[in-house]
Amino acid sequence: MPIEFAQRLQNVETSAIRELFKLLGKPGIISFAGGFPDSAMFDVAGLQSAVSEALTHEAGAALQYGATEGYGPLRSGISEFMASKGMACAPEGLIVTTGSQQALDLLAKVMLDEGDKVIVEGPTFLATIQCFRLYGAQLVSAPVDEHGVQVDLLEQLIVQHRPKMIYLIPTFGNPSGGLLSLERRLKVLELAVRHQVLVVEDDPYGDLYFGEAPPPSLLALSEQVPGSRDWIAYCGSLSKVLSPGLRVGWLAAHPELLARATMCKQFSDAHTSTFAQATAARYLQAGRMPATLAQVRRVYAERAQAMGRALEREVGEAVSFTQPQGGLFFWAQLTGAGGRSRDAGAFAKRAIEQGVAFVPGAPFYAENPDTSTFRLSFATADVAKIEEGVKRLAAALG
Ligand SMILES: Cc1ncc(COP(=O)(O)O)c(C=O)c1O
Repeated sequence: MPIEFAQRLQNVETSAIRELFKLLGKPGIISFAGGFPDSAMFDVAGLQSAVSEALTHEAGAALQYGATEGYGPLRSGISEFMASKGMACAPEGLIVTTGSQQALDLLAKVMLDEGDKVIVEGPTFLATIQCFRLYGAQLVSAPVDEHGVQVDLLEQLIVQHRPKMIYLIPTFGNPSGGLLSLERRLKVLELAVRHQVLVVEDDPYGDLYFGEAPPPSLLALSEQVPGSRDWIAYCGSLSKVLSPGLRVGWLAAHPELLARATMCKQFSDAHTSTFAQATAARYLQAGRMPATLAQVRRVYAERAQAMGRALEREVGEAVSFTQPQGGLFFWAQLTGAGGRSRDAGAFAKRAIEQGVAFVPGAPFYAENPDTSTFRLSFATADVAKIEEGVKRLAAALG
């Protein structure tokens, strides 16, 4: 086609994962591939009544254009929701975004010039890698272990690269499922202050814990580290706990950053759907969230346990993994035991032939991909399907 597209598109490519998703239509396939919550768990009755309340009491506002910063009652509702998790944030201290994905896009737009460096975890959320690259950023990968990003190495990378931002998913990350320890969280906040670098805390999974609550968010902990609050940009989302289709997320950050993000949002989508915002506000006001959270935690915990047990039983030493304490994912690695291949890409193809799908790990690395890794989501298959799917995985190991 003789259309000359923008140069910036050369920085990104359609994700390898999307290509794999095309194969998922095969009948009978069990999918551990998606990053979606289970649609069977959406609180349809609760949302129905929230929609009805919104249209009965505030139809004008719910169907009209609205403020770019977000719908007042929802900003208040989110502020209270955050307070329930130890994060003090006034309604004016956050803006509502069209999913937390838009918050990430706005941060990139506001912060990044061509060639700027951003430190991300290796591995990290693929859409963030693509989004930051679209704005010309150079991504530097910080190693993680079972306690999250390795803070000593992170500091070395900060000194070496002088990044504009550090992007972390400290709580049940996608794809790693990992959890940053309390000690490391405090260290990250100290690093932010010491090196005057913005830390983006992406937190769509923090509410999905299975046993004990995770350590407080970086934003909550910033009260303990003087000066650190200004260096945290917190992205929240209702997608994984309520409904991704609502497209309600938010960004809490320093007022000057928020003002610039709001300006960019104005040019982009003017505001997040007022209808969705009024619905979400009514939902939060109705006090249904605690019961919804209890239900999703219970179901995902059961599935995560089932997947862990099935993996131990079926794949033995061929695969190593850590049992996740929350979120939606197992992050696993082909060990090569018994002289088997360590290529997760080839394994994914054989798995599809056996009737089970998952995502190879390499695309989740901004640098130095580990091709032996892969991600398994336990969110959308029930326990019986998980057990059958893991059997098929074992058969695909060869
Ligand atoms: C780590 C992470 N951040 C952000 C998002 C975007 O979520 P949403 O835009 O639906 O809030 C996702 C979705 O999968 C995610 O996994």
